[in-house]
Amino acid sequence: MQNIIEALNWRYAVKRYKITSIPEVELEQIMETIRLTPTSLGLQPFKVIRIESPEKREEIKSIFNNQPQSVEASHILVFAAFTELTDSQIDEYINRISQTRNKPIQELEGFKRNIHNFTKSMSATEFIDWAKKQTYIALGMAMSSAAMLRVDSTPMEGFKHDLLDDYLNLSAQKLTSSVVLAIGKRDSAIDILASAPKVRKTADEMFEVI
Ligand SMILES: Cc1cc2nc3c(=O)[nH]c(=O)nc-3n(C[C@H](O)[C@H](O)[C@H](O)COP(=O)(O)O)c2cc1C
Repeated sequence: MQNIIEALNWRYAVKRYKITSIPEVELEQIMETIRLTPTSLGLQPFKVIRIESPEKREEIKSIFNNQPQSVEASHILVFAAFTELTDSQIDEYINRISQTRNKPIQELEGFKRNIHNFTKSMSATEFIDWAKKQTYIALGMAMSSAAMLRVDSTPMEGFKHDLLDDYLNLSAQKLTSSVVLAIGKRDSAIDILASAPKVRKTADEMFEVI
């Protein structure tokens, strides 16, 4: 098996990409990693919008503060968190469990109540914060998965969330942009970060054993 530590040392937040597409098979594996990511209560309260069109990428460049990776990377993945969870979405989830695990709906009543109680106990802002946290788990998994495949990536919070929401018409879909992942192939010849050593705290500083 490939060493995950080697992969994580290999990766860095790429600033400059070669203008080329990554192979479909690698893209599919990264998307599948996102789909398989665990989430709180298994609710998967987010969608991922993949922006491929070069014309659209040029249109949104300014939303990304003209960061070059927004146009040069192979793909841009926008993690969009749910802004609310409707009763029918909860029912849909319960039905999915029932069908997938061949379990009578009645046996899932308690779990369904827990989901209701948990999600309805939050204010609108708390709900969005919670949903956004789930997107970051998927972001981390996608970055690790990409690194294992030696696909480069850049996590991005540096964009104008309101403008991206408008551009993608997210609020009408009860979604809001959370975080973005650019993926592609690094251009080591022009990316000054390509050869920069990794800056991290030491293990002693970060970990405490009690
Ligand atoms: C949530 C998150 C948001 C980030 N946003 C940006 C961004 O908008 N633009 C950028 O160039 N780098 C961004 N970064 C990259 C970080 O600056 C980088 O990961 C950090 O400095 C560590 O360096 P390394 O990833 O190259 O090891 C972001 C990283 C994370 C985890």
